[in-house]
Amino acid sequence: MTTVINLDGQRVLITGAGGNIGAGIARCFAAAGAEVIAHYHRSASTTQALAEEIGATTAQADLTNPAQRQAMLDRVGRIDVLVNNAAVQTVRPLKETTTEEWNAIVDTNLNAVFALTQAAVTTMKRGAVITIASIEGTHPAEGHAAYATTKAAVIMHTKAAALEYGRLGIRCNAVSPGLIGREGIEEQWPEGVARWHAAAPLHRLGTPEDVGNACVFLASPLAEWITGQNLVVDGGVSTHPTW
Ligand SMILES: NC(=O)c1ccc[n+]([C@@H]2O[C@H](COP(=O)([O-])OP(=O)(O)OC[C@H]3O[C@@H](n4cnc5c(N)ncnc54)[C@H](OP(=O)(O)O)[C@@H]3O)[C@@H](O)[C@H]2O)c1
Repeated sequence: MTTVINLDGQRVLITGAGGNIGAGIARCFAAAGAEVIAHYHRSASTTQALAEEIGATTAQADLTNPAQRQAMLDRVGRIDVLVNNAAVQTVRPLKETTTEEWNAIVDTNLNAVFALTQAAVTTMKRGAVITIASIEGTHPAEGHAAYATTKAAVIMHTKAAALEYGRLGIRCNAVSPGLIGREGIEEQWPEGVARWHAAAPLHRLGTPEDVGNACVFLASPLAEWITGQNLVVDGGVSTHPTW
């Protein structure tokens, strides 16, 4: 049986939709018939072009700024699905990481997810929250300590939110991607891409749409009894023993 997911009538707010994976998520929700609200921070022209391509509207906010976050939600109104996709990643060994750098990553990747989710669920009548975590939430790479720590934290936030928001009919799940391709990655990081190809049982990088399709599934009635889970979308890389 082939099941086509139809999210007609669902209003979906996707944060960081001007970014690589965010745009893929937005395209997948639009293809499923959802009404997409494409959030951006600085990528105004990219997000506007995406919105025109898929028939979305846009919403701007620095998600670390409480006033901007709330103003955006007030403008957007009722939503049925929130996709917490926006995040930052810096590479720095722990011994060189300053408190300011650590706090900046935690502010965007964790604190903003907590606060946006808390405010957004008040606009929902039933619905779904999907947070983009990472395989680094369980297996950190060297130099990614702050990033990986926030990704572990949003996986736990997802479970805790599922526990508390379930009584409102709101399901909360995480999606943890592996390495997702982006323009130029093969030239910029050939050895990393080669290692990934060798390690992944499915022998390719992920695409933004691989992540988007997982999000659409988790937002859909097909997942109506799934909450508090972390769906790993990594071509099988994390099946390997790590020693
Ligand atoms: N790339 C991968 O291989 C990979 C693997 C696992 C997980 N992930 C996760 O997937 C998600 C998307 O990653 P990506 O690779 O697509 O990254 P990306 O292209 O850098 O996109 C991230 C987006 O986050 C937004 N953002 C950052 N700081 C913000 C702030 N203070 N307020 C509002 N928005 C902010 C940016 O918006 P503007 O551009 O508008 O400023 C940006 O478009 C992230 O959660 C990331 O951790 C990525």
